[in-house]
Amino acid sequence: MTERLVLQFVRRYLRAEIAIAVTLAIAGVLVFAKPSGLYLWLKAFHVIAVIAWMAGMLYLPRLFVYHCDAEPGSRQSETFKVMERRLLTVIINPAMVATWALGLWLVWEGGWHQAHWLQAKFLLVIVLSGLHGFYVRWVRDFGNDRNRRSAKFYRIINEVPTVLMIGIVLLAVLKPF
Ligand code: HEM
Repeated sequence: MTERLVLQFVRRYLRAEIAIAVTLAIAGVLVFAKPSGLYLWLKAFHVIAVIAWMAGMLYLPRLFVYHCDAEPGSRQSETFKVMERRLLTVIINPAMVATWALGLWLVWEGGWHQAHWLQAKFLLVIVLSGLHGFYVRWVRDFGNDRNRRSAKFYRIINEVPTVLMIGIVLLAVLKPF
């Protein structure tokens, strides 16, 4: 049991190390090579990262809704635990880091610091990131069979990232102020 846990930890740690190394290598090449059209490349990868982050942010509360109906300790409940943990660690967490890193890089490259639309967008993104923090806690609660919230609660929560996403995309694309 202990051996399996150590192996699991090493595997996860290695995967994180490799992901960070690859990201840093790509960032390094872009910084030093400064290809023409760098800004548009950054924006394209920013949007790709946003899509991955949002896909997870919209799907995870759905899993919580179904998980509420599964008896703690049942096979179904254990399957949901694996799905939730993997979705969070393999997709949602790295996608959030990439979205932030590329977004801030765009701010720097584009000189957007003073733009009011960006400040408003920033506020909404901080709320979205806070919600991400709650997801982490809820995955942990389900993982320890300690969830006390109802399926209705998660159904309502499911609407929050949708509303935030609509606001953020409208601000980024229309730049109304
Ligand atoms: C994490 C912090 C973020 C920062 C600092 C940031 C910053 C930026 C910047 C500076 C641009 C370039 C704007 C332009 O060149 O016109 C941009 C583009 C964009 N961002 Fe973000 N962003 C962040 C997160 C997000 C999130 C969470 C979403 C969606 C939910 C999002 C959606 C978009 C879209 C759709 C564009 C393309 C806009 C266009 O080309 O018209 N961003 N972002």
